[in-house]
Amino acid sequence: MPDIHLVILAAGKGTRMKSAEPKVLHRAGGLRLIDHVLRAASSLDARTTVIVVGYMAAQIREAIPERPGLRFALQEPQLGTGHALLQAEPHLAGAEGTVVLLSGDVPLLRPDTLRALITTHEGSGAAATVLTARVADPHGYGRIVRKEGRIAAIVEHKDATPAEREIDEINSGIYAFALAPLFDALRSIGSANAQGEYYLPDLVRIYRARGLNVEAVMLEDAREILGVNSRKELADVTAILKTTKNDELMAAGVSIVDPASAWIGPDVAVGRDTVIHPNVHLEGKTRIGERCEINAGVRIVDSTLDDGVVIHNFCVIRDSHIRAGAQIGPFAHIRPQSDVGEEAHVGNFTELKKTTLGKGSKANHLSYLGDATIGEKVNVGAGTITCNYDGTRKHQTVIEDGAFIGSDTQLIAPVTVHRGAYVGTGTTIRENVPSGALAVSAGKQRNIEGWVEKKKGTKA
Ligand code: UD1
Ligand code: CA
Repeated sequence: MPDIHLVILAAGKGTRMKSAEPKVLHRAGGLRLIDHVLRAASSLDARTTVIVVGYMAAQIREAIPERPGLRFALQEPQLGTGHALLQAEPHLAGAEGTVVLLSGDVPLLRPDTLRALITTHEGSGAAATVLTARVADPHGYGRIVRKEGRIAAIVEHKDATPAEREIDEINSGIYAFALAPLFDALRSIGSANAQGEYYLPDLVRIYRARGLNVEAVMLEDAREILGVNSRKELADVTAILKTTKNDELMAAGVSIVDPASAWIGPDVAVGRDTVIHPNVHLEGKTRIGERCEINAGVRIVDSTLDDGVVIHNFCVIRDSHIRAGAQIGPFAHIRPQSDVGEEAHVGNFTELKKTTLGKGSKANHLSYLGDATIGEKVNVGAGTITCNYDGTRKHQTVIEDGAFIGSDTQLIAPVTVHRGAYVGTGTTIRENVPSGALAVSAGKQRNIEGWVEKKKGTKA
């Protein structure tokens, strides 16, 4: 197998996005457009990957993690797609094989399609192979002009005659090129066209004039090569990613009550017989077990839910682990590095941060539990607050197995409530509570008779 070298064009300004951000860093389905492209290409095991950057080059470089074989080529100024590819030449000096050219703004491409393109290209010994598709609305795309059935040229929309604009087969902007003749031919592309740019698609005409073989591979599903040039197209692509993911999950046994409003990222896994209600967002590396119920309005990011977990309405869960049979919410906030034990309950208006809640423990109402390690079968009463921050540092609260924390308690960390201890309602805990003890700190109640009458001058 010849070596594969990837070149990804990402230097353009993306004017139609009307954005201060480079186009290829905009996100669809949680991933940047350029990440989608890099992922689609990852199975090709390319020897070299050259990303051509120009407009806001530094931001794009910063956003893409280093990897073996990854290079950046700077295109300054941006004189068109043909000129862009030429900038990759120094990185491919002495290399042999096939160049696969991708656009940083075409995120839905499937790895299978790329493999089919390469197979046809290498099988036919072509100098260039173009990925094409027939579309209902070809407006704006380069058109594939065929002679006697074979691809003869690509004409950009702005340069096309009325007859050429009738052609519904379009250029995807994705190609395979034999490396040997490529860069010499690129230098003979001119810029005498409607946009005054060096058009990469002109290579087709040049190769045909030189008697070199050019092939076309036509796609079945044209949606795959949708390019993102505007916010509208970004939303279109996002919607397709969503539908694809939801269809996949439903086919694997997940119930999605309202697929239109279930936003599930490409890397999220969901077990079967889990039910996902409307307006749910599952993001990042989230993994959800079997038989879970995720109610409406929930957002879960980078978290793991074991089997049989119920998340009631309107919870936010981030970077945490919720164990089997636990129940969360409604209106709970589980912040990073929290671990909710099996069958544990976290109720309404309760916030956890860096907190472990042991098996079968309950914090059902209005609590803040931060930097806390809470054992098994602990009852945390309504309005319990861990005072974990002294204005300078964070401190730990430990509540051991079987302890009972009365309502409206403040635990001033660092502090430990030992196994089976009781804390009375309205207590401020400043010192450790020994096992089996009852801690109370509130003073004795006083009733001042007749106080109201004295104050207001009237009878109660
Ligand atoms: C391009 C093709 C068109 C095809 C369409 C498919 C050309 C001239 N036209 O048009 O035939 O139907 O894609 O989506 O190639 N870029 C650079 N440097 C530049 C110009 C562009 O790196 O100087 C990059 C852009 O950042 C983008 C890609 O090349 O990632 C395509 O450029 P764009 O301006 O979007 O081309 P289209 O008009 O969509
Ligand atoms: Ca484009």
